[in-house]
Amino acid sequence: MKIAVARETREGESRVAMVPELVGKLTDLGYDVLVEPDAGARAEYDDQLYVDAGAVVSGSALAEADVVIAVNALTSDRARQLRAGAATMSFLPVNSSHDLVVDLRDMDITAFAMELVPRISRAQSMDALSSQALVSGYRCAIVAAGLLRRFFPLNMTAAGTVQPAQVVVLGAGVAGLQAIATSKRLGAVVQAYDVRAAAAEEIRSMGAKSIDLELETLEGSGGYAREMTEDRAARQREMLAPYIANADALITTAAVPGRTAPMLVTSEMVEQMKPGSVVVDLAAESGGNVEGSVAGKVVRIGHAQVWGGENVPSQMPGPASKLYAQNIVNLLTLMTHEGEFAPDFDDEVVIGAAVTHAGRIVHEPTREAIEGPAEDEPVDQYAEAADPPTARLDLPNDSEDRT
Ligand code: NAI
Repeated sequence: MKIAVARETREGESRVAMVPELVGKLTDLGYDVLVEPDAGARAEYDDQLYVDAGAVVSGSALAEADVVIAVNALTSDRARQLRAGAATMSFLPVNSSHDLVVDLRDMDITAFAMELVPRISRAQSMDALSSQALVSGYRCAIVAAGLLRRFFPLNMTAAGTVQPAQVVVLGAGVAGLQAIATSKRLGAVVQAYDVRAAAAEEIRSMGAKSIDLELETLEGSGGYAREMTEDRAARQREMLAPYIANADALITTAAVPGRTAPMLVTSEMVEQMKPGSVVVDLAAESGGNVEGSVAGKVVRIGHAQVWGGENVPSQMPGPASKLYAQNIVNLLTLMTHEGEFAPDFDDEVVIGAAVTHAGRIVHEPTREAIEGPAEDEPVDQYAEAADPPTARLDLPNDSEDRT
């Protein structure tokens, strides 16, 4: 069976779904690996490296493949090159990709979305949201340190003492914790806040101070945060204002799955920051945690430079691609039996990540959003399906098995 590594066509994308050093893992599973020309070029992986690793570089890779792996979902036009019954594995933001999902269904493509892989212990090694958030969190701290025209660490010198930078991190999920860890390693004094109760301990375990606003915590399902009411948001902003005014660098990473990013910091709050201070808003692309931040740009608000993140993992394409490729290898390993790509749709991870299969939309929230409520369906809707979908999990998948 053949796996094709797609060349990314999204503007600004530098990552690639497979790196040369992991090609051997796919051949060990029994696959022939085809790579579209220049697929890895922007991540510094030349075609020759893939050839040396045992892959074949081919302009017709998509048309020949049983499984296409990519970072971003193929466009409908590119997906048309696939043969019916082929599968794709990529990020696929289902909420904003309804036309594509319909096309994939109608083309009889089995599409797996990396962001839908259930975040349970067994699937941690396949969790591309986490691996890419790790890269983003690190990059945010490095960007903040780079933009700030002063030291992060304490320096005691013969010429006097240089005080360490004060860093505040808002949102302490995977990216936020990595931003904390990186800022600490660079020697900054770090304080952080998250609405989830469990985050306080995680913040402290990174060596930072957890900011306690004495507000109710906002635990949602599956270990994620819940959306704030406007009243709660206003109180949070008011109570965070003095911490932000005192920060040399503010890094925001807060998100609520399926929603626009919560607005945590108004431009008035940024205007209270000291001359030379910097703000790094990782959530700029999804609405922004900081009022006035612009994805992909540095803007000035008051005395502060405000950096808006845009496809941040792609700014470190080598390591981001390698981690992503390892996630893909692990997911493919789960779906491969005796050298054949044979996903078991009774497996929670497989069905959890599947969007379309056998001419149907099998991710239930997406199916309902596109095709309407299930009650309208005939009772024997799955009678002739080769692999009838089993019980589906909501997005994000709930599980008590989180760590
Ligand atoms: P995310 O990207 O959805 O959100 C980032 C952070 O923003 C979260 O910690 C959230 O609580 C915080 N946040 C939301 N609204 C906020 C607000 N108004 N103010 C301040 N902070 C706010 O989350 P991520 O990083 O994808 O994961 C979050 C949770 O999932 C964590 O508990 C993490 O430990 C857990 N997790 C579990 C995994 C597993 O078991 N396999 C894998 C990855 C994450």
